[in-house]
Amino acid sequence: MRLDKFILKSTELTKIEVVQRINAGQVSVNGHVVENEANQVHESNTILLNGAQLKARDFRYILMHKPAGTICSNIDEVYPSVFNYLEVEHVSELHIAGRLDADTTGLVLITDDGRWSFNITTPTKECRKVYRVGLSRPIAEDVASKFQQGILLQGEQKLTRPAKLEIVSPQEVLLTITEGKFHQVKRMFSAVGNRVVSLHREAIGAVCLDVDVGQWRYLTDLEVQSFSN
Ligand code: URA
Repeated sequence: MRLDKFILKSTELTKIEVVQRINAGQVSVNGHVVENEANQVHESNTILLNGAQLKARDFRYILMHKPAGTICSNIDEVYPSVFNYLEVEHVSELHIAGRLDADTTGLVLITDDGRWSFNITTPTKECRKVYRVGLSRPIAEDVASKFQQGILLQGEQKLTRPAKLEIVSPQEVLLTITEGKFHQVKRMFSAVGNRVVSLHREAIGAVCLDVDVGQWRYLTDLEVQSFSN
């Protein structure tokens, strides 16, 4: 990670203060003064600020039940940010591994570990996301096989990856996908002549939503490890 990011993660300094300290020659990495804040460092490096060794704070892994009418952004925009529900320090260091639309509810995973969230969001890792979908009209018989084979969404070059459709009732289904294109679930049903009227994420990988709306908890070590492959 960048040197300035490491120092932000290991002190209570602001971004501006971090850059000032680095530019003033107060920081050394493995015995050498480094004055460029963009230099790459590793957590295992010996990084000193005015002679005192720094240690990055432990990574955090959080599960939250996103309410409707909130956004997965670090700042409030038209809708309030989901981060308003988190009572933790250094919220600006956190990001969401796989965002949901403002009107979508359900499971979001929140972390400050970019390598970990990469395993969740990168399609080649094939991490399963399960959505409960309410539809405007009864599901057609051929949709499960179309989704299994992959469909071409408007504006895309490649077919969607194989997705699993389970029918709960004529207008309610469970859809499991392993990628996260922009508005993917809504676009998939639109491509087969239907419309999503409610969307709720129930699971990501082996982690299932088990807290009430607006509530959150830290993941267990086992849950964290289940995404580290
Ligand atoms: N697909 C969508 O269309 N919206 C979401 O919020 C998540 C997946």
